[in-house]
Amino acid sequence: MNKPQHVAIIMDGNGRWAERRGQPRAIGHRKGVEAVRNAVKAAGENGVKYLTLFAFSSENWNRPQQEVSDLMGLLKFFVRRDLAELHNENVRVHVIGDRRGLSADILALLTEAEDLTRENTALNLVIAFNYGGRDDVTRATRTIAQKVAQGLVDPARITEQTISDCLDTADIPDPDLIIRTSGEMRISNFLLWQSAYSEFIFLPCLWPDFDEEEFRKALKEYACRDRRFGATTDRAAAAAT
Ligand code: FPP
Repeated sequence: MNKPQHVAIIMDGNGRWAERRGQPRAIGHRKGVEAVRNAVKAAGENGVKYLTLFAFSSENWNRPQQEVSDLMGLLKFFVRRDLAELHNENVRVHVIGDRRGLSADILALLTEAEDLTRENTALNLVIAFNYGGRDDVTRATRTIAQKVAQGLVDPARITEQTISDCLDTADIPDPDLIIRTSGEMRISNFLLWQSAYSEFIFLPCLWPDFDEEEFRKALKEYACRDRRFGATTDRAAAAAT
């Protein structure tokens, strides 16, 4: 079966999950953390090497202050509670997104998670936190512009690889598959540059209901996709071998 090396997920629908039950949105986010655990487990069991989770976007600051604070609290709760187990399971944690603007305690926890798990070799868990695709490209552009100003980079020699190397995902392969839950069909400023040739699967289930069965269903659908990267089927197959 054709398997994705990198699966990225837009975890959507926590609020609706809670509202449908007459509960506060915070309860939906809390259930969402359980679904995160399911996704990590399912990714590992299905031989996925990179799992990226869109946990907090650069636009999520526009939510009510209490909800922003709930989401920050849940990230801290997740890292504090699950880091030892992730490390035990040989999971390497990466964090992408703009670290400026994050509180000192969140920064310290994220750095601790990355440092502790740096040598791990099973699953790579990439947490996108305060992440926006346009912001990623903007920050990369600034880095390249600084190098040009210092005479380190010749503008005529800037390639796609130069840009990829300056993104937060420099050491991470592009996602093969992007899953979005909750039936919404848009990318919402997720991995804009990196998703140029990703396959998309939109699942109707709300994120708190996402489980190993949903993950397997998505992998099965991915296996039927014919990825051509702009070429013809036979040429794409030849390039892949
Ligand atoms: C979208 O649902 C979900 C989010 C904005 C946050 C996702 C966060 C978590 C699942 C918990 C923390 C994550 C980690 C990695 C510990 P929504 O609130 O937009 O739902 P709605 O569209 O139904 O309102």
